[in-house]
Amino acid sequence: MLDATQNVTRTYLDRRVEEFRGQVARRIDGSLTEDEFRPLRLMNGLYLQLHAYMLRVAIPYGTLNSDQLDVLAEISERWDRGYGHFTTRQNIQYNWPKLTDVPDMLGRLADVNLHAIQTSGNTIRNVTADPLAGAHADELIDPRPVAELIRIWSTDHPEYQFLGRKFKIAVTGSPNDRAVTAAHDLAVRIVERDGEIGYAILVGGGLGRTPVVGKVIKDFLPQADLLPYLEAVLSVYNLAGRRDNKYKARIKITVNEMGLEEFSVRVDEAFARIRPEFSGADQHLLAELQDGFARPMLAPRDSGAFEAAYEADPVFRSWADVNLRPHFAEDYAIAMVSLKPHGGVPGDASASQMRVVADLARRYGQNEIRVTQEQNLVLPHVAKADLPAVFAELKAHGLATANAGLASDIIACPGMDYCALATARSIPVAQEISERLAENEIEVGELAIKISGCINACGHHHLGDIGILGLDRAGVENYQITLGGDAGPDMKIGEKTGPGFAYDEVVDAVERLIQAYLDLRAEGERFRDTIARTGAEPFKSALYDEENRHAA
Ligand code: HEM
Ligand code: SF4
Repeated sequence: MLDATQNVTRTYLDRRVEEFRGQVARRIDGSLTEDEFRPLRLMNGLYLQLHAYMLRVAIPYGTLNSDQLDVLAEISERWDRGYGHFTTRQNIQYNWPKLTDVPDMLGRLADVNLHAIQTSGNTIRNVTADPLAGAHADELIDPRPVAELIRIWSTDHPEYQFLGRKFKIAVTGSPNDRAVTAAHDLAVRIVERDGEIGYAILVGGGLGRTPVVGKVIKDFLPQADLLPYLEAVLSVYNLAGRRDNKYKARIKITVNEMGLEEFSVRVDEAFARIRPEFSGADQHLLAELQDGFARPMLAPRDSGAFEAAYEADPVFRSWADVNLRPHFAEDYAIAMVSLKPHGGVPGDASASQMRVVADLARRYGQNEIRVTQEQNLVLPHVAKADLPAVFAELKAHGLATANAGLASDIIACPGMDYCALATARSIPVAQEISERLAENEIEVGELAIKISGCINACGHHHLGDIGILGLDRAGVENYQITLGGDAGPDMKIGEKTGPGFAYDEVVDAVERLIQAYLDLRAEGERFRDTIARTGAEPFKSALYDEENRHAA
């Protein structure tokens, strides 16, 4: 498989690390003030949180090889507190680095072609993709070569280092969008029309205080036009985007204020100007990248051992039913590795857990690991025959909770435990909900609970079947609930139910919603199907009627 950071050479990364080492030294000897140092550290993915610095490392399109994951584990042990936190944008965050250690951490990352460049700031952030790319049975085409092309083009692109605001791009090659593409500033969906592959382009999606579902600006863009078209979109945004108010600076506001039609006309004008500058070198590169991401050669394997274990062991069966996804090769499966043990911190993995997954990928999984938007890991290519052994190893290390896509597979942002912007805790709420719901979550079935600790919406609460937003009401945490969000291809923003709940009421409130669903659901209906049929009213009654509140 191709290495993630083609264009960013070792020499370049070394130079960046040494440059930052000098800046850190000058900060420590006082020759740089914090105000002067801030933009320099942010260019290297280093944030200042509530209690400590935080280093955010990009995992381009969520793909890692075993050596890379081993290094992420080593870094957490040598320079942090022995764990890392996987995020919804396919990054890993280290929550406790010492400023003086960060250059060494970046140096070690460079050994395996990873870095923290453009994981912060008003620039094009980590390009994300379907975490099951190149493996899922439903895929039209692997989106990672396109994501890599965009990453190569956008990394260190001088024109996009000082955009009005951050700019997030996601790519999917499957009709079942698993990359939350419509919540991105720009989405590339690979589609087929009359036998030709091309791209549907969406612009102006985003969450935060003003959630907007991305709008289709091109329903079919020919392959060769992708980069000039992206340049055209970026150039219109760069010029027309607002810089007077950072809350209005994202492209979603530009598109809404200008109107999609006018925005599209301006993009087409810019495209006509830019297109001739692209002579085809990008298409040669794309072809090379496609070769690099060619599907692995998977030998046929007898799945007898899998069938036998499935029959004999109910614990394995339950895990297989919930955590496996269909692979393009018949004798293989995609194994979701849960980072959501009941009562655990969503998305955290210890160094030893990371090593176990790296080792399993080496032994049974074509050396590949993925990071999902739901804050889990994935072994994308495992022979069914090897699944009992893989399961046993995962189970021994607390990585085999059978909950992928279920109630305890909760997305939660760092909230008040780490984040300087937080207005409420989100991790402890997630922990308590997951413990409370563990027992009957299989009966409840597919359910997305998503929690953010402030209106910035890092925890995707707008897109949860049940969304929880932690606010601060006169110094007291208050949790607002939304219902009916959907992160899939037909994305929906959830609707507020009514007044919020106190910290010690919110878990009961979620339980009441789930009980209402169990009471209301028709045969085969998921939570979202029931809401679509009944509307939110019966759920609101369950939430707010006095007798329900006291019954819980
Ligand atoms: C130091 C910690 C963090 C800070 C300071 C921070 C800051 C922000 C801010 C200010 C926004 C709103 C942007 C806007 O509306 O223009 C935002 C949005 C977002 N952040 Fe974070 N964030 C942090 C951690 C995280 C983590 C851990 C994740 C993933 C779990 C994450 C993922 C996202 C996502 C998905 C959005 C919404 C999508 C969008 O940009 O519209 N962030 N973040
Ligand atoms: S949603 Fe708010 S509290 Fe949570 S990580 Fe984002 S900025 Fe911090």
